[in-house]
Amino acid sequence: MFETIDNDICGGEARISPLVGRYAMLVPFLNPNYSREEVGVPMSATIIDGGEIAERLRAEITADAARFSAQYGYPPALGAVLAGDNPASEMYVRMKRRACEKAGITSVAHIMTAQSTQEEVEAAVSSLNEDPTVHGILVQLPLPAHIDEERVLRMVSLDKDVDGFHPLNIGLLAMKGREPLFTPATPTGCMKLLEEAGVQLAGANAVVIGRSNIVGMPLALMLIKANATVTVCHSRTRDIEEIVRRADVVIAAIGQPEYVKGDWLKAGAVVIDVGTNKVDDPNAEKGYRYVGDVEYESAKEVAGAITKVPGGVGPMTITMLLSNTMKAAWHIAGKVTL
Ligand code: GUN
Repeated sequence: MFETIDNDICGGEARISPLVGRYAMLVPFLNPNYSREEVGVPMSATIIDGGEIAERLRAEITADAARFSAQYGYPPALGAVLAGDNPASEMYVRMKRRACEKAGITSVAHIMTAQSTQEEVEAAVSSLNEDPTVHGILVQLPLPAHIDEERVLRMVSLDKDVDGFHPLNIGLLAMKGREPLFTPATPTGCMKLLEEAGVQLAGANAVVIGRSNIVGMPLALMLIKANATVTVCHSRTRDIEEIVRRADVVIAAIGQPEYVKGDWLKAGAVVIDVGTNKVDDPNAEKGYRYVGDVEYESAKEVAGAITKVPGGVGPMTITMLLSNTMKAAWHIAGKVTL
């Protein structure tokens, strides 16, 4: 698959990827002792444009939803459960519902207060489980602290678990030779971006920064399945900069603004930035702006390819949720008669 660069500078390690798609690039595997000029990596990183990729995929999903509606006489549908008053969660659920409607997927929502009881949240999930016109269920996380999240996620019908958070789906993701029905949206979006960019993961050193149930942990499992050598860094990791410096692929999902600096990166590394952090900015119209977990300005000078914030992983997350909802809809509609 790879053509080895016959060049001492690269220490015999550098390999060029076959050209795959329009984002194809020089895949790193470069010797970290040399600069990007010395090893022939382009001077500024290729931008992996999540907005553009998501838009293309959403057009396909919209066409798929129209085919579904024409075939069955009713639309595919996603049910959302939101409990609490977390403004970010409220915004995400609003965005997900709007994206559904634009794609021709009906959205139904159970919006509940922060005082909702365990029984009320479970009743909302049960009613979506039992509704044959609902194909996917999304329980927005985090739930209020007094709600037993594991119990709620365990209740979601496996057929409708479009967030992939049911413990059985996560367990299947962790096991060699097994496949879950659905995988969580944000890590799936990251994998899709890497695929679109033509990054060859087999044998690559991938470093995931963050170990959350929503992103870091499932993403590490997905990278292992793709035959990468995976290191997961977190708040207790020692010498994190040194670990990141050895990475061909860096995925930052730690939720700290501009945590990863350009001089932590190996020349030519591929960087996926999952963070969306609101920071004060008196020069911005609204007095704030969003930055990622990576210091973009310094990182783009070293990386071979990088995502931006906003416009990178964010649009992919909702797109993967819509894609999972269509998968669930075809699967369920094929089994039930309304
Ligand atoms: N909270 C933060 N990210 C997510 C997500 O992808 N799905 C759900 N359900 N909750 C989240």
